[in-house]
Amino acid sequence: MTQSKKKILAFAGSLRADSFNKKLIQNAVKIAESEGHEVTLIDLNDFPLPIYNGDIEDAGMPDKVRELQALFAKHDSFLIATPEYNGAVPALVKNTLDWMSRSLENGDSGITLFKGKVVGIISASPGALGGLRALLALRDQLAKLSLWVAPTQFALSKAHEAFAEDGSFKDEEQAKRIKAVIADMAAF
Ligand SMILES: Cc1cc2nc3c(=O)[nH]c(=O)nc-3n(C[C@H](O)[C@H](O)[C@H](O)COP(=O)(O)O)c2cc1C
Repeated sequence: MTQSKKKILAFAGSLRADSFNKKLIQNAVKIAESEGHEVTLIDLNDFPLPIYNGDIEDAGMPDKVRELQALFAKHDSFLIATPEYNGAVPALVKNTLDWMSRSLENGDSGITLFKGKVVGIISASPGALGGLRALLALRDQLAKLSLWVAPTQFALSKAHEAFAEDGSFKDEEQAKRIKAVIADMAAF
């Protein structure tokens, strides 16, 4: 299978300092970089966006939306680690995607940030399913934004037991599962 080097924008859908999904995405970033991909890891705490409101948009797009849209535009791939809230994608992830989908500064559709690009999706939860239901919802959401979603995904269950003190995986098998997601992205 042909593999191509990607320019990946990576983020976790959690603002929590000790977030399992932040630990998961940090591991995924290391793996992607070791495979030769160029990765930008962002913390959504650095992009505080209001809950989407058309009145805010009409009054002038928030600077942080423009800043994040510019980052999305610079990358050809995305890697997202999402928590699962009540069987669904957290509002943070949905809200971020909703703002990104709005018109760009140059008037182009926000969908141009996604179209023809690939995304890998992973999740972490202390629960037994590891956030699998959120992945299914996110897959559907991302496809509607015209992204190609890598067929392989990874849901890390018992996340509270999965990481060593230094944030690395206790079980090497978890790294292999992430490598498979990244390999799918590279095959795109
Ligand atoms: C509002 C809310 C709803 C949740 N619903 C689920 C759920 O449906 N499935 C699940 O596995 N965990 C659920 N959890 C637990 C989260 O998986 C857990 O808080 C996890 O640590 C969040 O991810 P983070 O560590 O990256 O912040 C929920 C947590 C919150 C706050």
